[in-house]
Amino acid sequence: MSIIFISFLLIDGYMLAVMDFGSQYTHLIARRIRQLNVYSEIFPFYQDVADTDVEAVILSGGPSSVYRENAPRNDALLDWLFAEKIPTLGICYGLHLIAQHFGGKVVKGKEREYGTADAFVVDDPLFKELDITQKVWMSHGDRVEALPPGFSRIASTENSEFAAFRCNTMYAVQWHPEVHHTENGMKMLSNFLEIAGATRDWHLEDFTRQTVAELREKIPGNAVIGLSGGVDSSVAATLVSRAIGTRLTAVFVDHGLLPAGEVEQVRTWFEGKVTLEVISAKDRFFSKLKGVLDPEEKRRVIGEEFIRIFEEEARKVKATTLVQGTIYPDRIESGITQHADVIKSHHNVGALPEVMEFEQVVEPLQDLYKDEVREVGKTLGLPDDILRKHPFPGPGLAVRVLGEVNDQSIIICRKACTIVEDELKAAGLYNEVWQGFAVLFEDKVVGVVGDERNLGNVVGIRIVQSLDAMTANFVKVDWDVLERMSTRITNEIPEVVSVAYFVSHKPPQTIEPL
Ligand code: XMP
Repeated sequence: MSIIFISFLLIDGYMLAVMDFGSQYTHLIARRIRQLNVYSEIFPFYQDVADTDVEAVILSGGPSSVYRENAPRNDALLDWLFAEKIPTLGICYGLHLIAQHFGGKVVKGKEREYGTADAFVVDDPLFKELDITQKVWMSHGDRVEALPPGFSRIASTENSEFAAFRCNTMYAVQWHPEVHHTENGMKMLSNFLEIAGATRDWHLEDFTRQTVAELREKIPGNAVIGLSGGVDSSVAATLVSRAIGTRLTAVFVDHGLLPAGEVEQVRTWFEGKVTLEVISAKDRFFSKLKGVLDPEEKRRVIGEEFIRIFEEEARKVKATTLVQGTIYPDRIESGITQHADVIKSHHNVGALPEVMEFEQVVEPLQDLYKDEVREVGKTLGLPDDILRKHPFPGPGLAVRVLGEVNDQSIIICRKACTIVEDELKAAGLYNEVWQGFAVLFEDKVVGVVGDERNLGNVVGIRIVQSLDAMTANFVKVDWDVLERMSTRITNEIPEVVSVAYFVSHKPPQTIEPL
C-alpha cells in the first residue's frame, strides 16, 4: 500500500519559490520569508516553476560545486528567470550557479571560508538603510573569479572579491542572509522582497484557515492522531478536529514513560473537545523495552509499539488516515533532507515501522518550526498551559534514562524531572528557557548517607536555551537555583547521591541525552 504524505502550506496569492539545491538552510530561508509576511514554498531544484504563480525566486545554497559533473542545476529555470525578469536572489551555491550560467567564472577557493566576515557593500536597494560594513556569515569553498557580462559587483569581502552582484533584479550573495549570524540578514531579505514588489499580507492565521479547509478535503473518512499532550500533537489534533470534528479520534497512549500528572492534564484539556481514547499500555511497552540499551533501538521499539496501538484503535474506528504532529526540525534531524545525516530517529518520523495499515499519513505542521506551531495554537485558542509547555520527546523518559527502562529507573527520572520543572517555575525561569529536565545515568558513584557509604545513582540536569531545537546553548543557571534542585533531588529521591549539570551546547551534544 502506498502511503501519501501531504504538505499543507499551499495558498493563493503572492508566492516566492525557494529552489532547494541541498543546503541545510533551505528551510530556514522559507521560514524567514514567511516571518516577513510573504508566503514562500520550497521546490526541488529541478522543478519547472514557470507555469506556477511564482512571483520571485530564491536559489538556495548547497554542498556541491557548480563545476562538478553531477552538480544540481536547472538551466531552463535560470534562462526563464532572466528572460521574464523574475526577481531572483541566489544564495551561496545559488550565487555560483548564476555566475557560471551567465558566463562568469567560478573556481575552487584556496581555502574554505567559514564563519563571519566583514562585507563592504555599495549603495544598492538590497542594502537599503544598512551601513557600508556588514557582518555576514559565510560557508563556501568556491569563489567567483570573474563576473558574467552585464552583472555588477555590489559587495566584497577580504576573501571574496565578488561577494555579491546583480543584474537588474537578479541578485546573488555569497553569504547566508537567512542565518542569525548575518547580523542584518533579515533586513537584506526584507529589502529583496521590496525590490521584488512582494505583497506582505501572509499571516499564520491564513495557515490555520487554509489548512482547516484543505484537511476537510484531504481526509475523506475517519482519522486517528497520537496525542502526547505536548504542543505539537495538541495543535495538530485541534486543527484536524476543527476540520473533521468527531471523525478524528485522538489516541493518548500512556506508555508509562510520561511526566508526572500528564494523563490527568490531557483528560482535563481534551475531554469533551475531541474524541479522546486513553490507552493504558505501560506493561506492553516495559516488557518490550526489557534489556534494551541502544538508544536507536529504544526509539524503534517505542515507535513501533505506538504505531501498532494506533492501528488497533484505527481499526476500531475504521480510520484510514494517521495524523501526526511532526514539525520541521523533527524531519531534518531524522534525515529527510537530501544531505542531512540521521542524527537520531524521532519516533514519529524516522523510526516508523515499514508496514503501516493507513492509506495516508497527514502531517499538517510538517513545515513549521516550534514557535510557528505555538502561534498557530494561539490562533486556535489553545491555552498557554499547553502552548508554553516544554517540548517532551515522544519516547518519553526512556530517552532520559541512560540504562534499562524499568519501574525503578523511570520513577527516579520522573521524580527528578518534576523537581527540575518545579524549581524552574519557582525561579520564574520555566517560560524563559527552551527545556529543562533531569537525566538518570547508568553508572553509580559512592555516596555517604549518615555514617554509611553506599553506591548511589547520579542524576544530570539539562537546561537549554534554543530558538528552534536545531542548535541549543546550556543555560548559565544561577547557582542557588541549581543548589535547590540538587538538594531536593538527593533529599527526596533516596537512591540518588550525586547531581551533575550538563555544560555542553548543541552541537556537539543533542538536547536529549539519547
Ligand atoms: P534533540 O535531542 O534531537 O532534540 O536535540 C531536539 C528536540 O526534539 C525533542 N525530541 C524528540 N521529540 N520524538 C519527539 O517527538 C523524539 O524521539 C525526540 N527526541 C528529541 C527534544 O526534546 C528537543 O526538544
